[in-house]
Amino acid sequence: MKNTTLSLQEKKQKNEKITMLTAYDYSTAKLMDSCGIDVLLVGDSLGMVMLGHDTTLPVTMDDMIHHAKAVARACETAMVVADMPFMSYQVSVPEAVANAGRLIKECGVAAVKLEGGADVCPQIEAIAKASIPVMAHLGLTPQSINALGGFKVQGKDRAQARRLIEDARAVERAGAFAVVLECVPAGLAALITELLRIPTVGIGAGKGCDGQVLVYQDMLSLYPGNSPKFVKRYADVGSVMRSAFQAYIEETRSGAFPGEEHGFKIDDGILRELRQGCGAESL
Ligand code: KIV
Repeated sequence: MKNTTLSLQEKKQKNEKITMLTAYDYSTAKLMDSCGIDVLLVGDSLGMVMLGHDTTLPVTMDDMIHHAKAVARACETAMVVADMPFMSYQVSVPEAVANAGRLIKECGVAAVKLEGGADVCPQIEAIAKASIPVMAHLGLTPQSINALGGFKVQGKDRAQARRLIEDARAVERAGAFAVVLECVPAGLAALITELLRIPTVGIGAGKGCDGQVLVYQDMLSLYPGNSPKFVKRYADVGSVMRSAFQAYIEETRSGAFPGEEHGFKIDDGILRELRQGCGAESL
């Protein structure tokens, strides 16, 4: 059964944790889907982990559509959510609805995600009214990196914490079906989870959220450099890949690869004829 906004809501009610990972391509999404992941997020983090930008800001609608199509094709049971990139929803409400519609129509994803609280509630409301489920995103919102002054924990002081609670209530009222809480103190995220009827999905927000999300390159040690404190490295796939690439380079240079078992045969008689016809030396 495909996961839906309703099945996620049910999970919250039954106290079952929601599992979510980012995905950006067909093969990886297929693997994750076959493992039973509930939600795959085609995050605009693809700007950094797939395209090599320093931030998510340069990501375009075309980038999102290209990757979201591939992920949606792979999923049998996971619900696929696509991020709305920077400036695809901030400029105006009609533009936000039109761009959310493109992600649904052109990619086949089931929902969109956008960053922000009360400020983007008109957009959330209009997109939800167009029958497009919207996941909200609060706390550290990477598209606001310049305004926030860096990748920092959000909601630590009283005023910030109160604003986060208000924003969480506002996005729920506006019609969001779930909300990502990124880099928020665990106690505050647990309080927001208790206050909301919709599920919360945490990243760096402690175990009190209704679900968890990680960027898969971080959990598999595939992205160069230090990863944030909240990342647990489940496997060092980067090292496994590096060893395989090195072995391939060495074996190709030495002639050990390809072996006979990796090739295809042609009848000796045909080859002899071809050689004669081409004027090559006889075997
Ligand atoms: O873009 C992304 O990958 C995200 C997750 C970190 C939640 O928004």
